[in-house]
Amino acid sequence: MVASRISSDFPVSENVAAMKASATLAAMQAAEAMRAAGVDVVDLGAGEPDFDTPQNIKDAAAAAMRAGKTKYTPAAGTRDLQRAIIGMYERDFTATYRPNEVMATSGGKQAIFNAVISLINPDDEVLIPKPYWVTFPEIVTFARGRSVFIETQDNGFVLTAEMVRRAITPKTKLIILNSPSNPSGRVIPPAEFKQILEVLAERGVYAISDECYLRFVYSPATVFSAASLAPELRKRLCIAGSFSKTYAMTGWRIGYALANADWTRAMLKVQGHSTSNATSISQAAAVEAANGPQDSVAIMLAEYTRRREWLLEALNEIPGLKCPQPEGAFYAFPDVRGCLNGKLKTSEDFSTELLEKEQTVVTDGAGFGAEGFIRISYATSLDRLQEGVKRIRHVAERNQ
Ligand SMILES: Cc1ncc(COP(=O)(O)O)c(C=O)c1O
Repeated sequence: MVASRISSDFPVSENVAAMKASATLAAMQAAEAMRAAGVDVVDLGAGEPDFDTPQNIKDAAAAAMRAGKTKYTPAAGTRDLQRAIIGMYERDFTATYRPNEVMATSGGKQAIFNAVISLINPDDEVLIPKPYWVTFPEIVTFARGRSVFIETQDNGFVLTAEMVRRAITPKTKLIILNSPSNPSGRVIPPAEFKQILEVLAERGVYAISDECYLRFVYSPATVFSAASLAPELRKRLCIAGSFSKTYAMTGWRIGYALANADWTRAMLKVQGHSTSNATSISQAAAVEAANGPQDSVAIMLAEYTRRREWLLEALNEIPGLKCPQPEGAFYAFPDVRGCLNGKLKTSEDFSTELLEKEQTVVTDGAGFGAEGFIRISYATSLDRLQEGVKRIRHVAERNQ
């Protein structure tokens, strides 16, 4: 793996020294380095769609540039984008948000960052269900809060209201929810999600719902946003959304936050002194993404569905691997502990052998708080997926 080290001569701040470098970005860099060296690498580490941004969205960006929309915008985003996001939530989730409750951000990541930084004081507890997206605890560390992890493995990595109730203490300020989940792909059933928010409302705990994969769910699961819940359950809720995965726009860096007006005002303060506003040209593209034809989303979903079906069956045929049925996102998260009996002791050993002997990149589950598991992304062609699974089988067979 590519290590990310800060020179020991540099007086790095305590906040940043306490943060870990991103394991998922490290996997991406490892794949890139191998490709540059001419190796036939199979990259199943990708955290982004392998599709290109739809043409109508690119055209909108080009038109915006030609029209001179190349200046600063309000920190909360252009009126057009705010309206488009509000319209999308009205149309798809019958949820009403006012303009002072919505802000555009530089990716969903910045929405989560703004939301945590504007709420958390030193030693506040932030509940994070395992396995978690690597960035969640690092932002909490940066804010000097304390991450308190909730173990969900006994329930197949699906969080329940009862687990949340048990984890809350008088110091709990916030929970970060992520359904569909990166890395497990698991989805919290909507009825359970509602019960979780009821527990939080009872105890006065805030919630961030990271919904960046919300459009990618597989039948019989259906698209769900916490925005569709009753307004009294949404009082302390911030939805962190993203255009990155839904519209294959990871490089454009556009996300958004939907939260009550006070929380939004606090987030605007953070953003106003950091990035100011999301890129003006990307904002114009996002307006088209939200308001324009949605068929590209359905096309991507159909392709992910096809790959997922093949992948899950193939993984479960590999000796030593067990893979439950994730309902969403584009990741499989198999349990590889059946292969950790001899030479290989950890899922990191498994991923390292896969990288070094089979030139195949996956992401070790330990970075997501789930030792013994690996994350396989199927945001790659079926051909490459098939080649990658063949190579995973080689490692598994050698380690029975
Ligand atoms: C769970 C989760 N949340 C948020 C993001 C942020 O995506 P972006 O900042 O590109 O919108 C990602 C990206 O990988 C993710 O996996």
